[in-house]
Amino acid sequence: MERYLVKGGRTLEGNLRVHGAKNAALPILAAALLCEGGCELHNCPQLSDVEAACHILDHLGCKTHRQDDVLLIEAGDSRICCIPEQLMREMRSSIVFLGALLAKYRQARLSFPGGCELGPRPIDLHLSSLEKMGVVFTQDGEQLLCEVPNELHGASIDLPFPSVGATENIMLAASLAKGETMIRNAAREPEIAALADFINRAGGCVFIEKDGTVHIKGVKKLGACRCSVIPDRIVAVTYLCCGAITGSTVTVSDCEPDHMRAVFPILEEMGCELEIGEREILLRSPKQLKAVKHITTMPYPGFPTDALAPIMALSTIARGTTIFTENIFQNRYKQAWELCRMGADIRSEGRIAVVRGVSRLHHANVRCTDLRGGAALMIAALAAEGETSIEEIRHIQRGYENLPAVLSRAGACIVQEN
Ligand code: UD1
Repeated sequence: MERYLVKGGRTLEGNLRVHGAKNAALPILAAALLCEGGCELHNCPQLSDVEAACHILDHLGCKTHRQDDVLLIEAGDSRICCIPEQLMREMRSSIVFLGALLAKYRQARLSFPGGCELGPRPIDLHLSSLEKMGVVFTQDGEQLLCEVPNELHGASIDLPFPSVGATENIMLAASLAKGETMIRNAAREPEIAALADFINRAGGCVFIEKDGTVHIKGVKKLGACRCSVIPDRIVAVTYLCCGAITGSTVTVSDCEPDHMRAVFPILEEMGCELEIGEREILLRSPKQLKAVKHITTMPYPGFPTDALAPIMALSTIARGTTIFTENIFQNRYKQAWELCRMGADIRSEGRIAVVRGVSRLHHANVRCTDLRGGAALMIAALAAEGETSIEEIRHIQRGYENLPAVLSRAGACIVQEN
């Protein structure tokens, strides 16, 4: 059984370099299916979720090849438009291949992504939007059959909620549809602008208004393309939390501070000093963290749901009480119980969690419940007394490239046991 053994109580120093964003790379990999002439994706993180996306591309007849952080994708014309259940299950976000398959072949067959660690993850917004573009869906047992009986055409779409995945699927389908698509109340996460940039570099036509409305003019084809994946804002927040909980001074480099504006005031209220540069952030942490009264997750540019668990880890040893309200997913507090095993005082019910800061955390045997929950356990373990064992580390490996190595280089004591 793979696990991390973390000896807590060490301060960190030096530089923590942020890798490319998983959530930006995945929709871009789906878009690469549409590009004739090959894609070169730089700063592409080496993560199990990215590997899972490559498995899907391979299955769909593409050739993928990695050289360090550069991923080369050569799309074929296999006419394979079915993704087997086992590949869909490897990664929940594989639903983003739906829009790409519809754009390329005007049909797709895949299994429902089902629920995940964060609770039910419906795709009704993806489907109702694509229906407006001429797609007809039928269910065959566990399978979703998607066809375009007439033509895939542009549409005016008003999303009732700014779903990231639905916005991406519509953009992908619309990029090669006939006519223009407009998405109102689209998601505004930086990963959306990154996907737009990729499509435009490949010869597509996407424009995002200041209010977030996305316009996509369908083109006949997308061509060869070269681009670099934006830095992972949640990895950057996680590194800042690692510094903050250990009372350290660290620099988080190769990041995009502009994407993290909602998190800075929280860290500052907790007592951290931040020096924000163009591509790096210097964090000086206080002797004692202070609680923040209320933290509420919201769609971008609000406080990101993915940053909740890392900040919750900090709040466990902050002076005072922090109340979290999670507005995006139903089931985002599973890590709370594991943190309690380390001595944290957390009560949660529904969307609310109340964390009363304790004076110290202690070692325990804990299990990652999901990706960001796993990161929270790592952050807590860095500050806990004694040696914490973290199991189910595959969750962490979905989204953090070599986390133990990055933190160990900065002075942490972490061993991976296989
Ligand atoms: C993406 C991110 C995830 C992040 C989330 C919110 C990727 C791979 N994942 O997930 O890390 O936490 O954005 O920033 O980029 N919903 C519906 N119907 C739909 C679609 C969504 O009800 O058709 C609901 C979901 O159940 C959830 C909420 O909307 O409660 C947000 O989902 P969405 O924005 O779509 O997140 P993902 O794209 O799944």
